Amino acid sequence: MSSKKAKSGGLHPIETASRDEISALQLKRLKWSVRHTYDNVAPYRTKCKKKGVHPDDLKRLSDLSQFPFMTKSDLRDHYPFGLFAVPRKQILRLHASSGTTGKPIVVGYTMNDLDNWANMVARSIYAAGGRPGDMVHVAYGYGMFTGGLGAHYGAERLGCTVVPMSGGQTEKQVSQIVDFKPDIIMVTPSYSLVVAEAFEKMGIGPNEISLRVGIFGAEPWGDGMRTEIERKLGIDAVDIYGLTEVMGPGVASECIESKDGPVIWEDHFYPEVINPETEEVLPDGEEGELVFTSLTKEAFPVIRYRTRDLTRLLPPTSRAFRRFAKITGRSDDMLIIRGVNVFPSQIEEQILRDPKLSGNYQIVVTRDGHLDNVEVKCELQSGVSGRLSAPEVQSVAKELQHHIKTIIGITTKISVLETGSIPRIEVGKAKRVIDLRPKQS
Ligand code: DLL
Repeated sequence: MSSKKAKSGGLHPIETASRDEISALQLKRLKWSVRHTYDNVAPYRTKCKKKGVHPDDLKRLSDLSQFPFMTKSDLRDHYPFGLFAVPRKQILRLHASSGTTGKPIVVGYTMNDLDNWANMVARSIYAAGGRPGDMVHVAYGYGMFTGGLGAHYGAERLGCTVVPMSGGQTEKQVSQIVDFKPDIIMVTPSYSLVVAEAFEKMGIGPNEISLRVGIFGAEPWGDGMRTEIERKLGIDAVDIYGLTEVMGPGVASECIESKDGPVIWEDHFYPEVINPETEEVLPDGEEGELVFTSLTKEAFPVIRYRTRDLTRLLPPTSRAFRRFAKITGRSDDMLIIRGVNVFPSQIEEQILRDPKLSGNYQIVVTRDGHLDNVEVKCELQSGVSGRLSAPEVQSVAKELQHHIKTIIGITTKISVLETGSIPRIEVGKAKRVIDLRPKQS
């Protein structure tokens, strides 16, 4: 998308193109990207040679499946700049992601990369219903995390007024929203609930909040959470997806008219879903691990990058590009409880079936001898908190326990707490799981 086009709003022609046109563009760009990476990123070239593949072997899109994957450990092994495909002096910006273990991973952007990124986020905001002239309150963290600056430059590119608030300082966030009256908020879904709670405490109802749309991402959130956020803030909530390694926010984003999963901006990112064990490519519609190949990135191209995010590819609806279903979770977030695979998102879905419970929850896993124990701590909505009798609270807990047992298949201890009992995360991503089991050696 040219920046001129983005500024005036409207869809880029490729967003409504035919599948043949999209595939032709993808193949042309894919050939460039694989060759660029092979020629300039020595560790990836070594991997290709080991596997006996060469960029000349790429004749059709499906030939990509012969090429080796890139993983997070490749990034860590070549920390900090070992996978950059251009000289350091052509890099205009660095970002990093810390992750849970070891060294952070570092990524870089050329001027063109930053330009494409801003265009992809502008396109995402447009898909969410944002228009030039709207005011966008950015409450994603600024800094090495890609959320703040990624959202910022995209909103500017679309021609919006940006409020670069960053995360934290909830009181200030709220008073600025009251005073400036933004149309759009970009923030993690978990922090949006903290902001909503602050409004509630001030006695400001959803109809009095100026916000029209929220663009939420950086962590998994289900449709139950969408309903909760929409009701509490009086907005439309849409999903934006991305990851540091592939670019940052704006790899895929949801359209407000369909709210049916993020649309992958397939003119810049080629998606595959693979079976994480056998590594074979799965047909669209089957659940597996999302893998991305960048088609236009210069500084830090990724070929078949394994995201660890689990989802399925879906056919196009509001745009000509494919979508994916809401991310179930990362394969590394999966809990194995007495042999049953459980994702926090499944527990969230059961909690939010009960309108008396809010979206603030925590899952605490402990081990007693050889047995795993799971405690689900959840909170009553502020409207009912303190107003239910002990037997009523108990029946909320019993019902949730029953749903989790019959639908997910695990026995849990449920603690239904008053509003405000679970610590709020003001900066960064929500920590839903506290796993206190001893590490397996
Ligand atoms: O979270 C980039 C981002 C910022 C995306 C702001 C959206 C909004 P990382 O810190 O590298 O980058 O984390 C990437 O977060 O692999 C997913 O597991 C998860 N994630 C990101 N967006 C979503 C989403 C940013 N919409 C990792 N739904 C990814 C579910 C998401 N998970």
